[in-house]
Amino acid sequence: MSATIVAVRAVTAELVAAFERLLPQLSPGAPPLDAVALAEIVDSPATELFVARDGDGGVGVGAGTVVGAVTLVVFRIPSGLRARIESLVVDRDARRRGVGEALCRAALARASERGVDTVDLTSSPARDAANGLYRRLGFTLRGTNVYRWAR
Ligand SMILES: CC(C)(COP(=O)(O)OP(=O)(O)OC[C@H]1O[C@@H](n2cnc3c(N)ncnc32)[C@H](O)[C@@H]1OP(=O)(O)O)[C@@H](O)C(=O)NCCC(=O)NCCS
Repeated sequence: MSATIVAVRAVTAELVAAFERLLPQLSPGAPPLDAVALAEIVDSPATELFVARDGDGGVGVGAGTVVGAVTLVVFRIPSGLRARIESLVVDRDARRRGVGEALCRAALARASERGVDTVDLTSSPARDAANGLYRRLGFTLRGTNVYRWAR
């Protein structure tokens, strides 16, 4: 595998096109992300977006192509500085070559750099690959109830 992980600093048409491909592979029902929504993620001090680029065509879709993404969220609450890994996705054609792991490791390294001690995430039990990957990276299950309020 030869994928390069880069922190996104600006929204380009290429990035918008990449999310058109990737987002349905993460959340089939999610509305498409336009440039404005992507800029909100990129410009916010609370979120950092990382993408994986196929380094040499070796992960199957062509050199330089964006083949995956992950978002790191960092925020301070009374109990401390917290972080979450969100929206990890790797293009179907580039999976099982370590791209997901590389994206997670980049997000974890950045979280450490920002002084975060723990990183949380949630993943549906049905997501076999994601749960396998997170466990392999050292994430452990917490005994907590996850709630959602919906408008
Ligand atoms: C989860 C995902 C990002 C992993 O990306 P990836 O580039 O394939 O990840 P890696 O190659 O670094 O690691 C894959 C690891 O996942 C695990 N894995 C992959 N497929 C698996 C499966 N069917 N069953 C169990 N574990 C599996 C293994 O631990 C595997 O490592 P291995 O190939 O060395 O055995 C990718 O499958 C994906 O985008 N899935 C759809 C979106 C998603 O579920 N995102 C997570 C949201 S919480």
